[in-house]
Formats: sequence, C-alpha cells, structure tokens
Amino acid sequence: MAAAPQRHAGVKPSRLEEARAQFARYKEDVKERGKPFYPYAMFHDTVMSLVVVSVIVGLAAIWKWTSYGPHHDGTHQGLLGPEYTAPADPGTTSFVPRPDWYFYFLFYLLRIFKWPESVFLGTVGVPTICLILLFALPFIDVRRERRLLHRPVAVVAAALTILSMAVLTWKGATAKEALASEVIADVPNWVKAEKLPQNAVPGARLFATAGCTACHTYLGTGSSNLGAPDLTQIGTRNLGIDFQIRHLKCPSCVVPGSPMPKFESLGEERLRQLAIFLEASKGKQ
Ligand code: HEC
Repeated sequence: MAAAPQRHAGVKPSRLEEARAQFARYKEDVKERGKPFYPYAMFHDTVMSLVVVSVIVGLAAIWKWTSYGPHHDGTHQGLLGPEYTAPADPGTTSFVPRPDWYFYFLFYLLRIFKWPESVFLGTVGVPTICLILLFALPFIDVRRERRLLHRPVAVVAAALTILSMAVLTWKGATAKEALASEVIADVPNWVKAEKLPQNAVPGARLFATAGCTACHTYLGTGSSNLGAPDLTQIGTRNLGIDFQIRHLKCPSCVVPGSPMPKFESLGEERLRQLAIFLEASKGKQ
C-alpha cells in the first residue's frame, strides 16, 4: 500500500495531498485488477476497427449495387444516393454553392456576421475562443464530481451549444439563396406586399435577376454582403430617379469608396426600370 496522506486531527488534507492519494489508489487498483494493454486492449481495438471497416465496405457495396439509371434526364437513382449525377458544367453562372448539411451552422454563422467589421470575429475569433476553452477545460474543471445534476455550468453550456448548433443548422438549411430562378418567384410577393405600381414590375424582375440580391436583401430575400443596405424601403428616402441611375452606373462616383460594382452595361432603359422599382419600394404597406 502506498503512503496514505498524512491526516492530522482537524487538518484537512490539501488538494495536492488528495490528488497524490488518489493517484496511489489508482496505481494499486491497476496492480490488483488491471489488464495489460497487450493483448487485451489491442484485441478489443482490432475487433472494433474490423466492425467499422466492414460497415463502411457494406454501405459502399449497397450504394454501388443498388444504383440504377441513367434516367431520361441523365441522372441515376439508388438506395443510398446516385452513383453518378449530371456532369459538372464549368461554364455555369447560376450555380449557388451550398455546403453539406453538417456545415449549415457555419454557413449560417457567416450570414450573421456582417462584412467587414465582424467577419473576422465570426470566422476566426469565435472558433478560436471555443478551441482554447476546450483545451483549458481539463485545467479549469478539476473537481471529481461527474453527476450531471451537480455540474450545472457544464450541463447548461453543453445544452446551449447543442441548441445553438441545431438552430443554426435549421436556419442554414432553410436560408433563401440569391439564385435568380428562386428570387424571381418572389417578385409577385413583392408587388403585393409593397403595393408596387405596374410600371415598377419590370425593374423588380431585373432586380431579381441582375445579381443585386447577392449583396442586398429585399423583404428577407437575398444575402447581405459587403455591408450593402437592405433595400426593402429604399424608396422612402426619395433619392430620386436620376440619383438612382447615376449610382447604378457608377456607385463609387456617387458614394466614394463604394464596393458595389458598376451596372452601366445594363443600358439606359433597364437602369431607368431599376430606378423606378427602387423609388417605388416604400416598404411593407
Ligand atoms: C457586390 C455587392 C453589390 C451588388 C451586386 C449590388 N450592390 Fe448595391 N450596394 C452595395 C453596397 C456595398 C452599397 C453601399 C454603398 C453605396 O451606397 O454605394 C450599395 C448601395 C446600394 C443602394 C443605396 C444607395 C444609397 O445611396 O443608399 C442602392 C439603391 C443599390 N445599392 C442598388 C443596387 C442594385 C439595383 C443592384 C443590382 C443591379 C445592386 N445594388 C447590386 C453592394 C452591392
């Protein structure tokens, strides 16, 4: 038996003494009841690894042998997904990159943190702080208590982490993209919600398809990037048709330092349609 901690009557053993006694008890335990790593643990690990590998091989076989096609549209089907999808088109302009579902929470985090002030905080700051906390955890939480009810801080933190990741994943999965074909479907809703006059509709359709919603939001559609303002009620500022056209032609000439691209190439008539739409956008009526 290793030396027990010195216990003087009435004197509580220090934390270090307690830890030493604990370690001595552990060593004793190992000597009495422990089993050597080789071959016992090695055997367990080998069996478990084999099980995992067999499951993966099995899933791969099911994926390969249950996929059939091609269908008339060139796609394949299968129990675990298609073996091949349509070939990639390197010339696409309408493709909206979306991550796999398990990255939706990060993807949505990027939407919450606005360019440029807080993007650094969101993408580097928060993950780094979380990692440092995780590394520090064994040094912070040194109590031996492991019952959940006696660890309220840890339990609440874990629950909040899981909850926020679930919510962010959900928001990321349902977030509307600035995909022209999806945005244009929203135009009738805009007309209704904002009571847009008939002559503002061509501009609304242009707005939906010209790439404006890559940076601007309008009644919740689109993404906000580069600090571009929401344009739901841009018309209430009564900037005027002429200002709108001048701004669209060359944003940085009107707003010094503006990162918004020039839309001069749309041509005078379409710029006027856009301007009419913008000026008619007075917010939800
Ligand atoms: C690459 C991002 C980006 C795109 C694409 C973009 N904008 Fe902008 N837009 C901005 C930014 C950033 C600002 C704020 C700076 C400024 O006012 O120029 C802005 C400002 C505006 C404003 C407000 C001007 C003001 O004085 O408040 C309007 C109106 C506008 N954009 C309309 C459009 C329209 C219409 C389109 C599509 C034809 C479009 N934007 C496309 C980034 C963008």
